Amino acid sequence: MALRPGEEPMRVLVTGGAGFIGSHVVDRLMAHGVEAVIFDQQRSSYHREVEHFIGSVLDMEALRLALTGVHAVVHLAAVADVKEVFEDPSYAETVNTRGTLCVLEAARRGRIPRVIYGSTTWVYSDCSEAEVNEATPIPPPRHLYTATKLASEYYCRSYSALYGLAHTILRFGIPYGPRARSGAVIPLFVGKALRGEPLTLSGDGMQFRQFVYVEDLAEGVVLALKTIAANRIYNLDGEISISIREIAQAVSDLIGNVQIVTTPARPGDFSGKKVSSRQALDDLGWKATTPFQEGLRRYVDWYRGQEEEKKLNWSKVDAALRP
Ligand SMILES: NC(=O)c1ccc[n+]([C@@H]2O[C@H](COP(=O)([O-])OP(=O)(O)OC[C@H]3O[C@@H](n4cnc5c(N)ncnc54)[C@H](O)[C@@H]3O)[C@@H](O)[C@H]2O)c1
Repeated sequence: MALRPGEEPMRVLVTGGAGFIGSHVVDRLMAHGVEAVIFDQQRSSYHREVEHFIGSVLDMEALRLALTGVHAVVHLAAVADVKEVFEDPSYAETVNTRGTLCVLEAARRGRIPRVIYGSTTWVYSDCSEAEVNEATPIPPPRHLYTATKLASEYYCRSYSALYGLAHTILRFGIPYGPRARSGAVIPLFVGKALRGEPLTLSGDGMQFRQFVYVEDLAEGVVLALKTIAANRIYNLDGEISISIREIAQAVSDLIGNVQIVTTPARPGDFSGKKVSSRQALDDLGWKATTPFQEGLRRYVDWYRGQEEEKKLNWSKVDAALRP
């Protein structure tokens, strides 16, 4: 696994390490005996014990300091929510593309052996093919989010070609699991179900998506440190396509007594593509292994735990303020 032989523990900097995917990458790195360091604009609520560098990926000096003694960077810091990109494209473009350039430049100056970049399978959304892999030609993207992610991919490739800085591009499928941000379909359905609200499907709910359990995904990121992955692209996605209706049903089965209602289909609703992760299996021995029902159960357990924690805090506040 380690890029350097010998006793010295490998040290990996995770930009965006306080975020959803990054926090799981930190977990998996530590599980593999790798020293993980977080670079983020905020402290992580999941890893208080891990060394942090608080700063922006736009700050070259902060990056320089954080890269001292580092063997590889996993670059995940970004405006990852497409709605936020839509609302403030200028800021998103700055963080997502210039931020990547800054990370690559700091890595070049610091002679870091490898940068692993977290891209997205959304880059395939404008392809005409129903099934895609890493060799599928990608037309110019329509969405700004995808444009920023593709631009970053190109920067990685240019830095390898011009300066010999090795990179690995990982195109992540839609992740789900504990610590997920609240806007995505699974968190939305689980939240509604637990509040006793109905789950709404657009059209017949037969829009298919591939989801990848976030801990599986994070394991793939760690495996991408393998030497074979240098200067290659891998899709890291789930094995099975699941319809939105199946998700609603699975949530209902797990939580119980949930009403599922349908509304007219939204025009141009993306029906999804089959993304192959075969290359990651062949080169890295990676495949998503967590069954959807199991991943969903772990997410619901985590969600309930969060709700309980909030309640506990309120009872403490009540107790403290009681006359
Ligand atoms: N979640 C998804 O659906 C998904 C899918 C495919 C790819 N990705 C990519 O994976 C990466 C991680 O996504 P996520 O879902 O964990 O997002 P997230 O929003 O949970 O985490 C992003 C982290 O980056 C940090 N960050 C943002 N701007 C920063 C800056 N200027 N300097 C330093 N840190 C900054 C945030 O504080 C946050 O902790 C992103 O690059 C995203 O584009 C996400």
